[in-house]
Amino acid sequence: MIENDFIPLSYKYEKEQGRVQWKAPSNIALVKYWGKKQNQIPANASVSFTLDECRTITSVEFAKLDKVTNEFSFDLLFEGKSREDFKPKIETFFKRIEKYIPFLKSYHFSINTSNTFPHSSGIASSASGMAALSLCLMDIEKQMVSEMDLDFFYKKASFLARLGSGSACRSIKGNLVQWGEHNDIIGSTNLYGIPYPYPVSEVFKSFQDTILLVHKGQKSVSSTVGHNLMHNHPFGQKRFEQAHDNLIRLRSIFAQGNLDDFIEVVESEALTLHAMMMTSIPYFILMKPNTLNIIEKIWEFRRDSKKHLCFTLDAGANVHLLYPNNEKREVNKFIKEELIAYCENGQYICDQIGFGAKKM
Ligand code: DP6
Repeated sequence: MIENDFIPLSYKYEKEQGRVQWKAPSNIALVKYWGKKQNQIPANASVSFTLDECRTITSVEFAKLDKVTNEFSFDLLFEGKSREDFKPKIETFFKRIEKYIPFLKSYHFSINTSNTFPHSSGIASSASGMAALSLCLMDIEKQMVSEMDLDFFYKKASFLARLGSGSACRSIKGNLVQWGEHNDIIGSTNLYGIPYPYPVSEVFKSFQDTILLVHKGQKSVSSTVGHNLMHNHPFGQKRFEQAHDNLIRLRSIFAQGNLDDFIEVVESEALTLHAMMMTSIPYFILMKPNTLNIIEKIWEFRRDSKKHLCFTLDAGANVHLLYPNNEKREVNKFIKEELIAYCENGQYICDQIGFGAKKM
């Protein structure tokens, strides 16, 4: 599909008003998206596990305006409170998607959104938030055309979500989601995420993700700034090639359930992401001393126990612990006894691989 396929020709019905509600999960990248071109086109392809417990729930009430306005008309409640500071992000999102959702200036929208995880946890809510909002808008659009096939519905939802936040396009559908054009991955595109199209061993279908909240404060450098620093980055080109190669490696790892190789790719991706931050100009560090303390403990535990516990990081100090469900008992014991001490106020979130967004 190309971008223009997402521009609707006309609407059959113009609904006066209504309400839709969706919940969309967060996701954690195994091969990282870091670096982008114009219009939210990723510099390299990425793949992620969809999460289950960490979600955003968004409802949108819409009411037709007497006449089409020049500006977007919406109000926003976050966890029951009006949040003016969140509005510019939505405004930017609406501007980017207006071409594809032409009814945006014909309605007033009341957006009500909340997360199942604490907002101040340092877990990015932009992926689940933009995914949930995009699904609400698609749900409204669906009511205005006579027929829309489900495949198109989800593709366009992911396409819109990408324009809100790149990683959000991986929070729509599927347990393992691939985004970004890749020669060896059939159906892959820069425009939206697709459910991973090749065989995946059962062991990955119940994978666990325990998120250790190392630092709950605001990040010192936003993802958007970080992505931009990949332009003219001294190691940028090599890094994009590495991500490409890691996706090729993962294909047989996913199929065969090879956990040792999985660990090598996933941890290397996490550390490379942070290495890119440390080697950009200006350089910055988002890990905290306890991030490193946890990594050392994980390596020690893995050496001694031969269990398949590994870590990944997103653009922050928190640590995602990934492990197979059948090793949960031993790993949870280790987490409680050895790792919680490194978490801010002892806080952590137990999650697992999930299956995508749902209408409520
Ligand atoms: C480190 O999707 O938050 O989590 O497109 O600017 O909104 P924008 O960036 P964002 O970047 C996520 C980066 C990452 C890696 C990943 O999820 O692939």
